[in-house]
Amino acid sequence: MTVKVLGLSGSPHRHGNTETLLDAFLDGAGEAGGETEKVILKDLSYTPCRGCNACHKDGVCVVTDDAITLIDRIFTVDCLAVSSPIYTMGITAELKGLIDRAQYIWARKFILKNLFFTNEHIANHKGIFISTAGLSWDNVFDAAFPAVTAFFNTLGFEYYDNIIANDMDRYKGIRGHPSALNNAREKGRKVIRVLESSRDATDYQ
Ligand SMILES: Cc1cc2nc3c(=O)[nH]c(=O)nc-3n(C[C@H](O)[C@H](O)[C@H](O)COP(=O)(O)O)c2cc1C
Repeated sequence: MTVKVLGLSGSPHRHGNTETLLDAFLDGAGEAGGETEKVILKDLSYTPCRGCNACHKDGVCVVTDDAITLIDRIFTVDCLAVSSPIYTMGITAELKGLIDRAQYIWARKFILKNLFFTNEHIANHKGIFISTAGLSWDNVFDAAFPAVTAFFNTLGFEYYDNIIANDMDRYKGIRGHPSALNNAREKGRKVIRVLESSRDATDYQ
């Protein structure tokens, strides 16, 4: 079966550094035979989590908007590439807003305890974080990782890899970076091979 890859573009800036890096990853995944799709978060309509905790009772979010449709879609893919530029040392409002809306899945797992992902399921679902930052600081992505980790954990994806490029100001954008786009493309090809072989191993057992 074809490996399905979904890319979430969390930048409000269309075709900027981060979406271009995501595109390189998706191109590589497509070249290796993956079925790829990209969703632009800023074009969707969803509100932030209300914190009403209604989902603690039945595992259902009372707000039915594009966030729920997208989360349903995420459960149909094998690889989830989540992308955001660094905004004020963290992820964008678009991405954080979506991550918070997955709280009803968290409630199913940890309050209602009616949702459980096996280790085999998690190993066959790879999550990749893609980001760019203006500054040259080595630690510029550090505040972004925990929220992305929580998102992948909640949705049953293994946090498999990062594709990150800092110092965009000096490089004058992602296209000026010496290796980031090629690296992203290669990682796209590789994740398809890895998922295909981990599926084969699962089928064999
Ligand atoms: C509102 C805003 C906040 C930003 N904050 C940071 C920051 O805290 N650290 C940093 O290194 N770059 C920061 N940047 C720069 C972006 O991370 C960088 O230009 C990035 O490559 C933009 O990606 P994009 O073209 O996909 O939007 C900020 C940019 C904007 C617009």
